[in-house]
Amino acid sequence: MRISERFIQELQDKIDIETVISSHVNLKRRGKTLVGLCPFHNEKTPSFTVYPESRSFYCFGCGAGGDVISFVRRIENLDYIEAVKAVAQMAGVSMPEDGYDDTLSKQRQRLLGANREAARFFHEQLMNPKNKDALNYFLKRGLDRNTIRRFGLGYAPNDWRELTNHLKSKGFTEHELVLANLARRSDKNGRANYYDNFRNRVMFPIIDLRGNVIAFGGRVMDDSKPKYINTSDTLVYKKSNGVFGLNLAKNANENKLILVEGYMDVIALHQAGFTNAIACLGTAFTAEQANLLSRYADEIIICYDNDGAGRTATARALGVLSKTGLKLRVVQMSGGKDADEIIRTHGKERFADLLKGAASTTEYKLLEARAKYDLNTDDGKVEFLNSAATILAGCGIIEREIYSNRLSAELGISVEGMNAQIKNAAARQKRLEESRKKSETQEMLNKSFEDKNNPERAKNLMAAKAEETLISSFMRNPDFYKKLKEKISPDDFVTAFNRRIFECLVNSLEEGYMPDLSLFSSDFTPEEMDSVTRISLISSSLGNTIKECEDCIAVLKEKSEPTVVDASDVSDEEFLKLFKKK
Ligand code: UTP
Ligand code: MN
Repeated sequence: MRISERFIQELQDKIDIETVISSHVNLKRRGKTLVGLCPFHNEKTPSFTVYPESRSFYCFGCGAGGDVISFVRRIENLDYIEAVKAVAQMAGVSMPEDGYDDTLSKQRQRLLGANREAARFFHEQLMNPKNKDALNYFLKRGLDRNTIRRFGLGYAPNDWRELTNHLKSKGFTEHELVLANLARRSDKNGRANYYDNFRNRVMFPIIDLRGNVIAFGGRVMDDSKPKYINTSDTLVYKKSNGVFGLNLAKNANENKLILVEGYMDVIALHQAGFTNAIACLGTAFTAEQANLLSRYADEIIICYDNDGAGRTATARALGVLSKTGLKLRVVQMSGGKDADEIIRTHGKERFADLLKGAASTTEYKLLEARAKYDLNTDDGKVEFLNSAATILAGCGIIEREIYSNRLSAELGISVEGMNAQIKNAAARQKRLEESRKKSETQEMLNKSFEDKNNPERAKNLMAAKAEETLISSFMRNPDFYKKLKEKISPDDFVTAFNRRIFECLVNSLEEGYMPDLSLFSSDFTPEEMDSVTRISLISSSLGNTIKECEDCIAVLKEKSEPTVVDASDVSDEEFLKLFKKK
């Protein structure tokens, strides 16, 4: 069972896509459409477009598209039913009583329930005198009881079944515990055996922005390995998107976030009053994390550990973050290997000083380059100046001026020489940039006949384009369908993906619905909606005549691919002219 089309259509009448999207994207009006920076990929010039008339959005940069429900689904990481509920709530409409399948959404709620109950259990265990070693571990590391409570820290007992038994008594099934990654299953002699995933570890719950416990990290209390065990990906958690502490840091009323490496660093910083500290989980800093952070801050101060791994991680985070437009600074950590250690050995004032002295991105890059060369030798000096010129070539005029004056004075060379070097580097970078753009355009052209959702498209391009033109025309002009329906059926479609779209469209048209994208969003995943949306937009660049549709039907009926022309090279308009001449 699914939510009725009628309800979805009513919902879309009550809420405009523009309002929903504006709370996530800064939109500017451009004629009948609105544009802004795409929230689904990193970009500096806007290619994300909202079409209020057709109640849809499409990004010309990454191809993400859909209706208001697919937007909410994606940006909030929800399933279909949850997204409909969220939109209904925004619109102030109550959901229909029943008649829809919300198994997945219920399952996610169950997992969140199990996690919450587990967090409570771990916290109670930590406070239980029989586990005083665990509490002492935190106290010895300088955490006070208030901090322990605020972060909901806990302890997983040294037992194979204590949590599993406890959660079973609360009504959760073993299967649910395995799905939540709280328990594991092993099969002995054909019998299933379930045991706790976290044992004898101090526990750090990971809490999302809505206050749900979505995952855990568990640390050993000695030097054994592995140091941390973390929840792997589940229905409610994707590690590569995880951010620890953002639930608290978002209330810090600061436009800056302090980015550190570990759980303990975040906690120590909050306790010392730096309540805007967070850590990004997962092994590598990702674009999703960068996008999330950019919704809560204008500036990120990176405070990664003072070691090789920390420097590599800093370089990577700078790379990802530099695409967001966030202001970036890097702290030169000294007096300890990480934030936690620095605060514990030197106090919070020392850390505040380090923050004040945080380097701009350029300064940081120059310092890094400088460390690589021996400036006491001429060779070292030359190599350092070369890489400094490359770094400065990518900066604005003011920064160039400041640093080239500074460096030339320090290294005893003329400002003119330094500037000439920077100019050369800039010219070289420009050439590189241009050739990169060229190959990117080539790639775009190549991609234009590929569709990740329709693997048959590239091989049957002519037919696929005819299918897409038909779909798009029928969506825009339902009366064309009424006139032509005897002449075309889903069986005439060559590519399976387009056939699915067509079937769905035909069903809705037969039921008398005015076709719009929401008709598809219950049967197609958000990723598939990208292609549906792209296809729906085709008709806006066509003549929208019944003759066009007849031509497309003719192509599909013939089912033979013309070999004379490479259809991948032509635009949609040219494509139509192409087979008209045949
Ligand atoms: P650190 O080893 O720096 O952790 O790893 P930490 O938080 O400073 O721990 P303490 O101070 O030794 O107690 C940084 C982060 O990398 C992840 C954890 O998120 C950790 O907080 N990590 C590290 C793991 O997931 N697994 C590991 O085995 C180690
Ligand atoms: Mn540490």
